[in-house]
Amino acid sequence: MVKTAVMVSGGGTNLQAIIDAHIFGEIKNCELTAVISSNPTAYALSRAEYAGIPAYVVDAGRHPNGASFSEAIHKKLSELGIELVVLAGFMHILGPPLVRAYRNKIINIHPSLIPAFCGAGYYGLRVHEEALKFGARVSGATAHFVTNEVDEGPIILQKAVDILPDDTPFTLQRRIMEQAEWRILPEAVSLYCEGRLEIDGKIVRIKGARSDVERGRSDSEPQ
Ligand code: GAR
Repeated sequence: MVKTAVMVSGGGTNLQAIIDAHIFGEIKNCELTAVISSNPTAYALSRAEYAGIPAYVVDAGRHPNGASFSEAIHKKLSELGIELVVLAGFMHILGPPLVRAYRNKIINIHPSLIPAFCGAGYYGLRVHEEALKFGARVSGATAHFVTNEVDEGPIILQKAVDILPDDTPFTLQRRIMEQAEWRILPEAVSLYCEGRLEIDGKIVRIKGARSDVERGRSDSEPQ
């Protein structure tokens, strides 16, 4: 079982998707060891509590800078013996020492099709505002490994979602969550924990999948 920590900052719907998939046996070989929140009032903490997962707060607001915040997270992850870190709506950039120590062991969900609408400053609703402003016809979500270059790490899974003419940032955010994020993030975590991801530079190969279409459980409608 891969000891996994899910890092959150807000509502935690992606955390919930992971919890639900785990309960339904869709995430194999994974122990949900901890939820760590950067925000003491995040609703994600209640979700962890309802699911019986130990929850911790490393309050970003109580650290003088990003380096000290990141160091505190690193310490907590080490104490708990965490082997996989999942950033599920985590709104901070982790420092280079932590990212180096957990090389190819940190998975992030980003609410666009990287390399579009991503990088420093692109998080939450802002991503969807920019996609709409640009006049894009599709957006989506990307599950990827974290490197020190923001949103540039190796891509594990992506799923496209149509942008509709009367979309607002809120409606687009919701559709991307429902149709893409909540599907590909649990799937990426399972692939990692099953030992099915092979990373070769920027390229991630999925062992045992004959094609992307075949692996695409995420393409089917929710049950
Ligand atoms: C999600 O859309 C997630 O992809 C995004 O914030 C939202 C958090 O929602 N993350 C980023 O923008 C990180 N770059 P949640 O707390 O309900 O999972």
